[in-house]
Amino acid sequence: MASVLPLLLLLLCSYHSLVAHAGDGQSYRVLSLNPKAVCSEPNAIPSSSGGTTVPLNHRHGPCSPVQSEKKMTDEELLRRDQLRADHIQRKFSKNAGADDIQQSKVTVPTTLGSSLNTLQYVISVGIGSPAVTQTMTIDTGSDVSWVQCKPCPNPPCHAQTGSLFDPTASCTYAPFSCSAAECTQLAQQGNGCNSNSQCQYIVVYGDGSSTNGTYSSDTLTLSKQVPTFYGATLQDIVVGGKKLGLSPSVFSAGSVVDSGTIITRLPPTAYSALSSAFKDGMKQYPPAQPRSILDTCFDFTGQDEISIPTVALVFSGGAVVDLDANGIMFGSCLAFAATDDDGTTGIIGNVQQRTFEVLYDVGSSVLGFRSGAC
Ligand SMILES: *[C@@H]1O[C@H](CO)[C@@H](O)[C@H](O)[C@H]1NC(C)=O
Repeated sequence: MASVLPLLLLLLCSYHSLVAHAGDGQSYRVLSLNPKAVCSEPNAIPSSSGGTTVPLNHRHGPCSPVQSEKKMTDEELLRRDQLRADHIQRKFSKNAGADDIQQSKVTVPTTLGSSLNTLQYVISVGIGSPAVTQTMTIDTGSDVSWVQCKPCPNPPCHAQTGSLFDPTASCTYAPFSCSAAECTQLAQQGNGCNSNSQCQYIVVYGDGSSTNGTYSSDTLTLSKQVPTFYGATLQDIVVGGKKLGLSPSVFSAGSVVDSGTIITRLPPTAYSALSSAFKDGMKQYPPAQPRSILDTCFDFTGQDEISIPTVALVFSGGAVVDLDANGIMFGSCLAFAATDDDGTTGIIGNVQQRTFEVLYDVGSSVLGFRSGAC
C-alpha cells in the first residue's frame, strides 16, 4: 500500500524541550523531574515541511485525550511494553516455529491489484506442495476460486504476470472425480466430466467473462505475514559526547523503529556499554534498585532538576540523533533495556523519539528525525 501512503510523520510531544550544557569534558542535559505538560490544541496545523501536523499524545500521558482511562502504573506500562517487544521480536526470529503450526485464524495482507491492471484487491497465497505463490483476486461475490494451470495457451487463458500453476509439480494436487460429493455441490457451476472422469466447472461473471476447467483440491498456505515494520541500523552510541566505539556487528540484527514500543531495546553488548558509560556520568547520584525491565536506576530524592550525560544514537550512514533529555530517562531510570541476545532485533521506542518529528518516507524507504519539533 506504499503508493497510497508515501509519507508518515509522527510527532511525539507534550514534554518540555531541554537545554544541553557542557561540564568536565562531558556534555550533559538538564532534566526537570516534575515537568509541566504543555498540551497543544487537538487541531491539525500545517507543518513547515509541507504536510499537516496532528498532535500525537500518549494515551496514558498528561495530554491524553482519553481522560476517563485509569492511569496505569509505570510497572504495568513496562510489563505491557515487554509483551509488545516480545511479540515484535518473535516476528523476526529465524526459527519462528509457531508460524508453521496450522492455525484456525490467519490474517493475510491484501493489496490493490493496480499492478495487475485490476482495481480489485488481490492476495498472494501458497498453493500446492511444495507451495508456490499465486496472486489471486479476493471476491466474496463468487463461489469458485481458480488459478490458471500449465499447460494453458494464451488464449484461451488470460494473460498473467506470475507463473502458471503446475499441478504435476504438486504432490497434494487431486482433481475431484465426477462422482465426488464436491462435484455434485457445484450445481449450476458444474460443467460435466472430461474424458478422464474429472469434474469440470464453469463460472460466468456479471461482466460476461468466464472461467472453466477441472475442479480440484490442493493445499493452501497463507504464508507468513509480511512484517510491516520500519527498520533502521544502529552503528554506535555517543554518551556524554564520547562514542562507545561499538563494533557495527553488534547491531547486525537491525532495529525496528516503533511508535508503539515505549522503551528502546538494544543488543546486550550495546546496552551494557551504554549503561556503564551512563553510570560513569551519573556518579553524583546514588544508584537505586532496578524497576521492572529498567536496571540503570538512580536515587533522585530531594532533587527538582538533574544533570544527565547526553546520549546520541549513531545510525549506519553516519546520521547522529541527539536525544532529548526526556528521551534518555524514564522516571529515575535510563530508558533503555537489553534484548535477549545480540542476534535479536532491537527496537527504537517512543521515549527516544520524544520531541522529534519522525518522517517515514515509505516510497523511498527513508527515515528522518528532526529535532526540536515540539
Ligand atoms: C472454456 O473456456 C474457453 C475460453 O473461454 C472456451 O473456449 C471453451 O469453449 C470453454 N469450454 C467449456 C466446456 O465451456
